[in-house]
Amino acid sequence: MQEEFFERYEFACRYMLAGSGVAPLSYAELSELASDTPPAPLAALGYTPSAGYLELREEIASMYVGAAAENVLVTVGAIEALMIATNLLLNPDEKLVCLWPSYQPLYEHAKALGARVRFVELDDVDGFAIDPTRIVDAVGNSTRLVMLNVPHNPTGATLSAAELRRLVDALAPRGVHVIVDEVFREMWPRHEQSAWNGAPNLVVLGSLSKCYGLPGLRIGWMLAPPDLIVEARRFRKYTSLNPGSLDQEWALRALRARERLLARTHRMVSDGLAIATAWLAEHEDIFRAVPPRGGGLIFPRLLTGEPTRDFCVRVVERTGVLLAPGSECYAAEGFLRLGYATPELADGLDRLAECL
Ligand SMILES: Cc1ncc(COP(=O)(O)O)c(C=O)c1O
Repeated sequence: MQEEFFERYEFACRYMLAGSGVAPLSYAELSELASDTPPAPLAALGYTPSAGYLELREEIASMYVGAAAENVLVTVGAIEALMIATNLLLNPDEKLVCLWPSYQPLYEHAKALGARVRFVELDDVDGFAIDPTRIVDAVGNSTRLVMLNVPHNPTGATLSAAELRRLVDALAPRGVHVIVDEVFREMWPRHEQSAWNGAPNLVVLGSLSKCYGLPGLRIGWMLAPPDLIVEARRFRKYTSLNPGSLDQEWALRALRARERLLARTHRMVSDGLAIATAWLAEHEDIFRAVPPRGGGLIFPRLLTGEPTRDFCVRVVERTGVLLAPGSECYAAEGFLRLGYATPELADGLDRLAECL
């Protein structure tokens, strides 16, 4: 299980090269980057409206064409949105279609509520291409939900907004909802527009964690038709009640300074991708990597045959460099997860080379 592996090493390692988002900002950096956004007049330390502060919902809505505050639920990270949306859109014995490998909460909530999961496998031999036809073919009579994450964790594969919307339209007459987890969408300087177009069977998720470097704020969001947002707001009365008021305050300030935050991310992504690509090419006898097309991860195959957990434990204990093993994080033995959007990358890869 991914979180267990991270629990052991994430805060003890010297070089974090397993993170999927951009290297996080410090509080001082965020204060600096958001210095001319006046403190939002929100921060009473009481409960907040359970859908999130209206100002923040409006700010999030303004990032999506045609969205309004009533389409937005502010969540405690995208992970809470995954939990709420899955519980609202799926019943026991119904089926979820999901890509494999995938970030575990994309399908574990479905399993926990007694639904079945049908995986559409991505293969490095095909460049991890996501084929919408295979997704439609995997949808059966009992399928109620398709869960996609684009750009995709861990492969960096992606689909265009047009392809996603065609898929959503194709599944609408069959009573199937599509959740598109877009938490990595803005990581690259050139990125796809959101799939959001207000379709009644589409839910889109976003977050401050990956593209904005603010995972500690624990702020994500869910965009959906207004009636589903009302149901989600009611559901959340039993989960978190509301996201933290200070987190929402800082989220609003961060989003108002988002061009500066994204410029920082795009610099780190461009630098990191160039370094990682050159390094992997130098070590192509040991790793075989598919070039990513978005997100913050590369998912190379380890060609030595060593179990990836053993490899990662050996590396972190000897050098302090943390990579994530495919076996633990995705039930995908043979692959490693490498996060490249960090200034620690070059030094970390130098250390890693000592272990090869
Ligand atoms: C695909 C995907 N969705 C959601 C999340 C959760 O993000 P958040 O920090 O916003 O809860 C992650 C975190 O790794 C992720 O990889």
